[in-house]
Parts: sequence; C-alpha cells; structure tokens
Amino acid sequence: MKRTILVTGTDTGVGKTVVTCAILRALLQRGLHPFPIKPVETGCDDLRRPEDAIALSAAAGGVDLATVCPVRYQTPASPWTAARLEGSKHSFEGLVDHIRAVQQTHDLVIVEGAGGLLVPIAQGKSYADLAVAIGASLIVVARDALGTLNHTSLTLEAALSRGIPVFAVALNAVASPDRFSLPHGDELRALWPGVLILDPIPRRENPHSILMSNESSIAFITDMTAES
Ligand SMILES: Nc1ncnc2c1ncn2[C@@H]1O[C@H](COP(=O)(O)OP(=O)(O)O)[C@@H](O)[C@H]1O
Ligand SMILES: [Mg+2]
Repeated sequence: MKRTILVTGTDTGVGKTVVTCAILRALLQRGLHPFPIKPVETGCDDLRRPEDAIALSAAAGGVDLATVCPVRYQTPASPWTAARLEGSKHSFEGLVDHIRAVQQTHDLVIVEGAGGLLVPIAQGKSYADLAVAIGASLIVVARDALGTLNHTSLTLEAALSRGIPVFAVALNAVASPDRFSLPHGDELRALWPGVLILDPIPRRENPHSILMSNESSIAFITDMTAES
C-alpha cells in the first residue's frame, strides 16, 4: 500500500528532522525504501548544502539530494516569505507535481514540513494545503514541555477541521526540561482520545547518528507505516 506522511511540528526547532530521520532509519532497517522530501528548505547558508535535506537523504541511505530538496532559500523564514524576499518564485503546483512523481515510484514517502502546519509554503497555500493535495497523513512533532497542550491542540484542531488524518503525535524531549516533570502524553491522551500519542522520545547526545528504531515510539510508527 502506498502511504505518504507529512511530518509537521507545533513550531520550528521541535525536532521534525530528528524524528523524520529516526523514522527513515527504522523503515530502512526493516528493508523498506522510504523516500524523504523536504519540498522547500529555507535558511540555507550554502544553497548546495541544505542541512535538513542532507540529514534526510543520509538517513534514507543516501538518496538523491536534488529530489529530496528541489527548492532552497537562504533567508531563514517561511518558504513563501523567503521566496518573496529573495525575489524568487516557486509554485505550489510545482511542489505537488514533484511529490506526486516521487509517490509514483515509492510506496512510502515521508515529507518534512517547515515550522508548523499553517506556515505558508507558497502563495495562498499552507502545509495543510500540501497535506491535502498529496494525500498525506500527519505526524505532529511536539515539545514534551510546558506549553505543549495548547500548541498540540491547535495543530490537531487545524488538521482535523480540514479533514487531514493524523497518524500520531510524537513528543520530543527538550534541551532544558521543565522544573516539574509532567506526563504531557497522558494529558494529551485525555484531551484527544482519538489520536495516537506516542511515548516521548528522549534527549540524545547525537540524535542524527544513533539508531532510534529501538525506541518504542519509533518502532510503533514503523509498524504502523509498514502495515497493509
Ligand atoms: N531527542 C533529541 N535529542 C537531542 N537533540 C535533539 C533531539 N531532538 C532535536 N534535537 C536537536 O534540536 C535541534 C532542533 O531539532 P530539529 O530536528 O532540527 O527540529 P526541526 O526540524 O523541527 O526544526 C537540532 O539541533 C537537533 O539536533
Ligand atoms: Mg527540520
């Protein structure tokens, strides 16, 4: 069965790339061939070296970088803001066509967003529109920290009100933990009984080199993704 997942987040810097890479590694280890796409990467100091896309490409076994990341900007801003500031243009339809071409040749396509779900990806379009256009379900990466109930709920409400299926919420540990350790996962499960809330991903010294497929949450995603 073909499946496309959009890994979005409650914010920028919450761990989308780390989680996406961990999923890719886990899928690869199971003998699957997921293809990662970062449709637009902004904040590229060197346009030949889009950092997220390079990490995704490596985690997927070294797939073609130009296909992983077709559009890049230097400005650290939303894709649409960066395009305007740099006097450049990319079209929403062009990005959708690019992803559809990859969907034709790969059963599992894992797309990393930028920032959160309603970030403008192109003129008049958000990542939510992209999810609808490419038939993706979401993994929402959220901070396992104070504030996450609101941020996660806002994202889930935005997704579900648009009819975008939510695959799971992945809580990710933060660099500076809260003074009190609270069970945000349990709180989210109570608030969103219909949504799969995965166990928190721990903080790791080097999250891009370790194999996270042993983590229960990543293993669960892998099982779910590989199913049917
Ligand atoms: N579980 C983790 N353990 C250690 N560092 C992490 C973890 N998750 C994220 N990071 C670090 O936090 C920063 C932001 O994560 P990243 O995945 O790039 O976020 P996003 O893609 O949402 O912007 C990166 O420097 C990343 O290496
Ligand atoms: Mg990222």
